[in-house]
Parts: sequence; C-alpha cells; structure tokens
Amino acid sequence: MLCLTRSTDPSWVDRAVDRLDEVLIDHAHCEMKAAMNALSLAARAVTPAMASRLAALAEEETQHFREVLAELERRGLALGTSPPDPYAAELRALAHRTRPGGRSPEDTLVDRFLVAALIEARSCERFRLLADALARSADRGDLAAFYEGLFAAEARHYRTFLDFAIEAAGGDEPRVRLRLGELAEGEGQLAGALGVAPEIHG
Ligand SMILES: [Fe+2]
Ligand SMILES: [Fe+2]
Repeated sequence: MLCLTRSTDPSWVDRAVDRLDEVLIDHAHCEMKAAMNALSLAARAVTPAMASRLAALAEEETQHFREVLAELERRGLALGTSPPDPYAAELRALAHRTRPGGRSPEDTLVDRFLVAALIEARSCERFRLLADALARSADRGDLAAFYEGLFAAEARHYRTFLDFAIEAAGGDEPRVRLRLGELAEGEGQLAGALGVAPEIHG
C-alpha cells in the first residue's frame, strides 16, 4: 500500500482488536506526536505557504488527537505518560545512517518529510486493517467508521509529506523518489520485526 515494501503481519490486527483499549491509548499519543511533528516542521518550512499548510496539518492531527481522547473518555481510560516510540526513533536513525557522507540542511529536511510520509503510510495501512476488522464485529461499527475516516486522512497526509519533500528538494522528484525507495526498504525491514505489540506502530 502506498510506498510500503512489506505488509503488516496479519496477526497484528487480531491482537489489536483483542487489546483495543491499549491500542487506543497508544493511538492518542501517536496523533499528539503527529501534531507536534507538523508544527516542528512548520518552523523549518522553506516558504510561509509551506509553513501555513503544515500548521493546518497540525490542526487536523490535533483534531484526531481530540477524537481519540473522546473515545478514551467514553471508555474510562487514562491517557498516561507518553510511551517510547522505537518505530519512529529507528526510522529517524535509519535516515541518519543511510547518508554516510553527512546530510546538508536540505537533505535533513527532505528526510524529515520522507520519514513523516512513511509513518503516515504505515498508519494508513494499519487503520485500514482496523476498520475492516472492527466492521466485522457487530458492536463496534462506530469505531470502524472512525478508523475508515482516519485511513483516508492519513493516505492524504502521506501524499502531502511527499509533496513537501519534493518542494524542499527544489522540485527534484526523481531524487526524492529514489531516497523514498531506500527509506521504504529499511522501513519494511523494521515493520517485519514489529507486528507483535498492541500499538499502532508496534
Ligand atoms: Fe492523524
Ligand atoms: Fe496524519
């Protein structure tokens, strides 16, 4: 799906549905981090127009965060402190490692957008799995519709981050696509080692 080189282990969604409370808590933290990351990228944007679009993206992710918080409230769950996110940390480390000669400020920004695009792509894939699995369970139709909506939003965000990466690279789309391919290969290996925890990227 999208640029992903490896599909999530099919057993992930069964575990996620069985342990939905834990997934929802983790999901809330993911949306909060997505909002913070979009704002942090707005501070590095190459034009005010790009900064403004990133600020709008941060607002949308904040709205997702609030929607997941409302679900936690309904279920009597606490948000708790932010769990470590080895998936995102390892993706960022991968982007460093695979520029052995060092990165220019432009390379760094392109990589940040591409890492964000990959996280959106993986979230999108997993929301699709969740929406389909929840739709099969009679009492969870509302939540299935919620994840259906998020699936579409994260697919759009994937494209937005890819466009930002191309813009940050001065419009050099072939170079960005080549780099996306490299990072997607590493992300696929990382995803192959995951799929075991009741987390959005676990
Ligand atoms: Fe989101
Ligand atoms: Fe997103």
